[in-house]
Amino acid sequence: MKYDFDTIISRKNTNSVKWDIPQEKDIIPMWIADMDFKTADPIIKALEKRVQHGIFGYAGVPDEFYEAEVKWWLQRHNFKIEKEWIEVTTGVIPSLSAVVQAFTEPGDKVLIQSPVYNYFNSSITNNKCSIVLNELKYNGDFYEIDFKDFEEKAADEKVKIFILCNPHNPVGRVWSEDELKKLGDICIKHNVIVLVDEIHRDLVYRENKHIPFAAISESFLMNSITCTAPSKTFNIAGLKTSNIIVVNEEYRKKVNRSLNINETIEPNAFGIEALIAAYNEGEEWLEQLLDYLQGNRDYLISYINERIPKIKVVKPEATYLIWIDCKNIGISSKELSEKIFEKGNLRINDGRTYGEIGEGFIRINIACPRALLTEGLKRLEKAIKGIEIEML
Ligand SMILES: Cc1ncc(COP(=O)(O)O)c(C=O)c1O
Repeated sequence: MKYDFDTIISRKNTNSVKWDIPQEKDIIPMWIADMDFKTADPIIKALEKRVQHGIFGYAGVPDEFYEAEVKWWLQRHNFKIEKEWIEVTTGVIPSLSAVVQAFTEPGDKVLIQSPVYNYFNSSITNNKCSIVLNELKYNGDFYEIDFKDFEEKAADEKVKIFILCNPHNPVGRVWSEDELKKLGDICIKHNVIVLVDEIHRDLVYRENKHIPFAAISESFLMNSITCTAPSKTFNIAGLKTSNIIVVNEEYRKKVNRSLNINETIEPNAFGIEALIAAYNEGEEWLEQLLDYLQGNRDYLISYINERIPKIKVVKPEATYLIWIDCKNIGISSKELSEKIFEKGNLRINDGRTYGEIGEGFIRINIACPRALLTEGLKRLEKAIKGIEIEML
């Protein structure tokens, strides 16, 4: 079956966080991380069937759910997991927060690599811990890890957890096996648990390959906790269903207890059906989506290179979130994103959202039909050219 990613489907009046902001009626939203595509047909069919039943009481998790998760890991990522390792929960963010709570005391520290997905911060500070930053190094083309700094930070005995984002939002890196090994070895040496967010694992461009951190070695398997979900891959974030893979039994008991304390362990009846359908029958759709996103990424890069050379795309290896270096424009990224909104009627994310080191950058979501992306890019061009004229 050939899926259609080209048709623009209105998302107005659907309670979409991305689209339904009243003052933004004529705005193209290319910000928050969901897609403007319909999900895969098998998922829609499974949900329709569930709706037809008409009774939506408390739901349990069937064996088929765990089997689908196990199968997907092996099929897509060559990682053999056991169904006993899986904890079901309502989202990656609640998972991160529950894990931080389980393994820290107030006053402890958690290590992250900025710029990074901003909710990592709240999962740490809400649990009365402090954030320790290992800033990623931008070499003008892509991002690398400062391992010396990482080890210095990890050696602080107050640092209990390192939250790894792989693939990385917003810089789009798919960390290599060598990079992951170095990080993992340092964490083992200093008794730091690796909490891995692999929510973007399936959205990797063709020339790259996602390596599950826990799959690298037995010791990484035992010293890590991996969070994942079908939500980004299949555009079903509103169904609030995700999984945590915890192999170490002692860790698993703690994670389970913490999820229970926070009451985030009750599954969503629709999310269960959606995950089973996605992982059992959604691969064909995903393959076509990946081709489409790759086309969007390459189109955006050539558009910006040709028509807006003042800004520079940090070419992503994964994710539909594009990190763009706008330092040459010479204004703060807050001011820049406001002007892009006012002059271009385009909503994007201010790079500062992802940490101070994100100053001078913006993040753009390209998971939309090509025609919408084209219009978004025209608006970006208009806004940036307008700013350039203003600054003359
Ligand atoms: C790295 C990362 N983790 C987690 C999430 C959100 O996860 P959830 O919606 O399952 O809480 C996002 C959403 O953008 C993300 O980019």
